[in-house]
Amino acid sequence: MSTAAIQKNLPWKTVWITGASTGIGREIALLLARAGLTVAASARRADMLTGLHPNIHAYPLDVTDGAAVAQTVAKIEHELAPIDLAIMAAGVYQPISADQIDPAVFSSLMGVNYQGVVNALASLLPVMRVRGRGHVAWIASVAGYRGLPKAAAYGPTKAALINLAECLKPELQRQGITVSVVNPGFVATPMTKDNDFPMPFLMQPNEAASRTIAGLAKGKFEVAFPTRFVAILKFARCLPYGLYFWIISKAILK
Ligand SMILES: NC(=O)c1ccc[n+]([C@@H]2O[C@H](COP(=O)([O-])OP(=O)(O)OC[C@H]3O[C@@H](n4cnc5c(N)ncnc54)[C@H](OP(=O)(O)O)[C@@H]3O)[C@@H](O)[C@H]2O)c1
Repeated sequence: MSTAAIQKNLPWKTVWITGASTGIGREIALLLARAGLTVAASARRADMLTGLHPNIHAYPLDVTDGAAVAQTVAKIEHELAPIDLAIMAAGVYQPISADQIDPAVFSSLMGVNYQGVVNALASLLPVMRVRGRGHVAWIASVAGYRGLPKAAAYGPTKAALINLAECLKPELQRQGITVSVVNPGFVATPMTKDNDFPMPFLMQPNEAASRTIAGLAKGKFEVAFPTRFVAILKFARCLPYGLYFWIISKAILK
């Protein structure tokens, strides 16, 4: 679907996006703002949230601060309108080797990537439940499908987010709340700019934003892209451990 076609058929009016200062979150904020939606944009760097578009309103925030998240959700609902869709894109990444197990790094990644989403849900779900409608979505990753070398700190945060979505979807659906999990492959953003390995099927962030919004507008549970990379990784997810680890050691660790 073209961006213009996506923009004509959006089922939301007010959207809250975390991780909106750069990368995928920023592109999603711009796409939705250009489509005429009211966008509340959050991230820690306030200066990166201002002047993006007249429809984008800055709500600077650290997602690991539960009290600040609660205040921000209340402020957005008071100052703008009820949040129809929340997209939690805030995330951090750090590659580590097996000889670099630093609990502080693991805790930091889990704090932003996973607990940050839980903090948002704790404030969003009660108000959406009262309204009997709403859509919550978070960006996990294809890195959450199966364990990958160097991803020991990052991968488990994304696997946890996929599992969280599976846990919550059936119950929340009965309450009128849609749950979606977005699983991108490699996207060219500040997060991946220092990667020193080939990134197959690398996608631009505006394309990732369009794919995300097209999937969410259809109410999909999982929005995953690029299609061919996702198919390969989903196939790898079905492989028995012996074969999977043989391929990993031959193809990735070499
Ligand atoms: N790029 C990829 O290849 C790829 C692939 C799969 C999944 N993802 C996921 O997609 C999401 C967006 O990543 P990206 O590639 O767009 O990376 P990015 O450009 O580095 O964006 C990360 C965003 O998260 C925000 N953030 C980080 N820590 C935060 C905190 N404590 N509180 C609030 N905001 C925080 C950053 O803003 P501030 O620094 O201003 O706070 C920034 O806006 C992440 O969840 C990432 O894991 C990315």
